[in-house]
Amino acid sequence: MRRIGNYKVSDIGLGSWAVKDPEAFIDTLVKAFEMGINLVDTAEMYKTEPLIKEAMERYGSKEIFITTKLYPWNIRYEAEKAMKRQIERLGKVPELVLVHWPEDIASEVRELEKLVDKGLVEMIGVSNVTKEQLEVALQATKRHEIVAVQNKYSPIFRETEKLFPMIEPKGIALQAHTPLDKGRAMELPSVKEIAKRRNVPPASVVIAWLLSRSPIVIPIPKTENVMHLEELIMGTKLKLNEAELELIG
Ligand SMILES: NC(=O)c1ccc[n+]([C@@H]2O[C@H](COP(=O)([O-])OP(=O)(O)OC[C@H]3O[C@@H](n4cnc5c(N)ncnc54)[C@H](OP(=O)(O)O)[C@@H]3O)[C@@H](O)[C@H]2O)c1
Repeated sequence: MRRIGNYKVSDIGLGSWAVKDPEAFIDTLVKAFEMGINLVDTAEMYKTEPLIKEAMERYGSKEIFITTKLYPWNIRYEAEKAMKRQIERLGKVPELVLVHWPEDIASEVRELEKLVDKGLVEMIGVSNVTKEQLEVALQATKRHEIVAVQNKYSPIFRETEKLFPMIEPKGIALQAHTPLDKGRAMELPSVKEIAKRRNVPPASVVIAWLLSRSPIVIPIPKTENVMHLEELIMGTKLKLNEAELELIG
């Protein structure tokens, strides 16, 4: 298990951007919940909230940690309305809201704080931030701490590691988005080599590598395929040795 604020969440969550087959995605989500995944990522941009709501209903519990994200312009002009739409579509108050990409991060996180005060969401965070933007956001919040950062992070895209010294000591979670680099991470020769030697799917190796980087890292891959889901979950149980970690670099 990993942590976001005071919540214990599964080692990986599931993303929901660019769902192709809604019914297959709902089935995959239900299966994921049954297998212990209790974290799902959405955004007002994705329009997947009703699918997540349907999956929670079929599963029979709303005790799933939901991260959602608001457009910066909606945060500026109608944060409360936008958040109420999220609650309506999800059928519950989400645990976490992020500014999807910051434009004026100090004022955006202060608006998100007001949503917590109004009981429209439990916790706040930021997404797609640079070190400088994160510094501003951390300074700007007054009443509610930033509990999570959601940035792109994979064996191919490591820029986000620059944030580690700022967030690790504070226990701020790093939701690693696009963790498979849309499949490209599984094509790395080092990943393929380890997968072959261990007789595991390359996707499992990528997930295991991400989880080995820091206890704050929570990959949020997207899948709408139950076999792929099983491979991703297999990665949470796979421990890479020093030589393998070195091979990926
Ligand atoms: N904050 C942001 O701005 C931001 C930006 C991008 C993404 N995100 C979040 O991060 C999530 C993940 O990113 P992403 O969806 O762009 O990319 P991703 O998770 O890196 O890759 C998704 C692709 O990998 C495939 N896949 C999944 N498991 C696989 C497996 N075991 N073997 C082979 N292929 C597999 C999926 O196809 P199948 O469905 O067929 O399995 C899909 O085509 C998004 O869904 C979204 O929630 C956030």
